[in-house]
Amino acid sequence: MSNRKFFLHCTQCDYDIQDFKEWFQHNQKCPKCGNAFVEVKYNRDYKELKKLIASNNGDPKNVFHYFDFLPINNPENIISRGEGVIPLENWTFLEDFAKGKYNLDIKVHAYRNDLNPGTGTFKDVAAAIAASVLKENGIKEYVIASTGNIANAYAHYLAEAGISIAVFVPNDALKANEAEVNSYGQKLFRVNGDYAVAKKVAADYAKKYNILMSGGNIDPMRVEAKKTMVFEWLRQIGEVPNVYIQALSGGTGPIAIEKAYKELEGLGLVDKMPKFIMVQPSGCAPMTHGWDKAKEEEFPEGWLHDYPIYENPVTKVPTLATGKPGTYPIIADLVKRSGGEIIEFDEDKLIDVARVVAFENTVRMGPAAAISMGGFFESLHKGIIKNGDKVLINVGEGIRRSPDFVEEMMYTTENVDSVDDCERFDREQYRKQLWDKIENMY
Ligand SMILES: Cc1ncc(COP(=O)(O)O)c(C=O)c1O
Ligand SMILES: [Zn+2]
Repeated sequence: MSNRKFFLHCTQCDYDIQDFKEWFQHNQKCPKCGNAFVEVKYNRDYKELKKLIASNNGDPKNVFHYFDFLPINNPENIISRGEGVIPLENWTFLEDFAKGKYNLDIKVHAYRNDLNPGTGTFKDVAAAIAASVLKENGIKEYVIASTGNIANAYAHYLAEAGISIAVFVPNDALKANEAEVNSYGQKLFRVNGDYAVAKKVAADYAKKYNILMSGGNIDPMRVEAKKTMVFEWLRQIGEVPNVYIQALSGGTGPIAIEKAYKELEGLGLVDKMPKFIMVQPSGCAPMTHGWDKAKEEEFPEGWLHDYPIYENPVTKVPTLATGKPGTYPIIADLVKRSGGEIIEFDEDKLIDVARVVAFENTVRMGPAAAISMGGFFESLHKGIIKNGDKVLINVGEGIRRSPDFVEEMMYTTENVDSVDDCERFDREQYRKQLWDKIENMY
């Protein structure tokens, strides 16, 4: 095994799976114990990772800057659209707000996944790694269930790799997601049911035709991809902020961040994991409700397995509509260990949040990203963000995801007949009006 670049280590029984061929052959389960949660380990000195992070190595072109710590052997199999080297921006207008309203001195960075060149979401890195691994392993067909964004990203990158993918989305998935999958000539099945039902039909399809299906949030390809977020933060700003805010559906983000921390152990680059503040939309917040109950009862024995399941959740953010959160035991445990919180944000206020951001710095967020942004305001209100905190907000998607949301952004239009109807315009007139909505949210 030692001459291999990497292997997959079973977190339950310590069995080492040689490579993805063995992993796929065993239906993405440990051949020894059947566990589905494995960790990729590299036969490499992790000090080399420090070099990749410290030096910009010229100008990183994509996530494969970290090739030595990604589970692909031959660079010829790389599928990339330039994803994963997106900027981390200092958003001072949010710092000013925190100071003005709550008298907190904080630092705020936004991680601009909307700028990912593939499909403009933070699923692009996962799809790039998955497409490359699948190509390397000679996979020609693939199946995935998705609430929307992972569908787009996989459809795009697998098309690039010449791989057919059948995508199963729930009946409330956004039209824009559906259209994007279609446009790459990939197959979309809109399932008459919620995400849990879509997953079931996808699994049946995979079984019926004996096709490999995505392993979901704990899929090692996805975790390996998303761990590079942490490397990028270190590369770009030299540290990991101590508070991490992300919209939560299944929760690959925090799992991947913890994986990155394991790889960085002993390198002197990080100490404690950031506090994870995970945010669900009010229309579908089963993890938040499980968490709130556990907190109220002071985390009793077995709390990780006590969470609600919502069938056919009705939410304005279908991208985050995981009503049956199978990963709750993993995510809630991680959040607790990080000292974080699982909260929800009132989705009726999403547009106010998105408008303020677009006014202040012209970044137009999609609804799922606005949820994490809303989580920032909610956290300030609830006192979860403290003086001196350094906050990172994961802006997971841009606005092209939802044409309806684009239309909702409108507020300046006036219909006129002649210039007599047109008052002279100064954009400052809107600033107060927009911020008042945020100020008076609570
Ligand atoms: C923009 C955006 N943010 C957050 C999430 C949640 O990601 P996860 O499923 O890893 O919780 C998604 C999932 O689709 C997303 O598209
Ligand atoms: Zn095992």
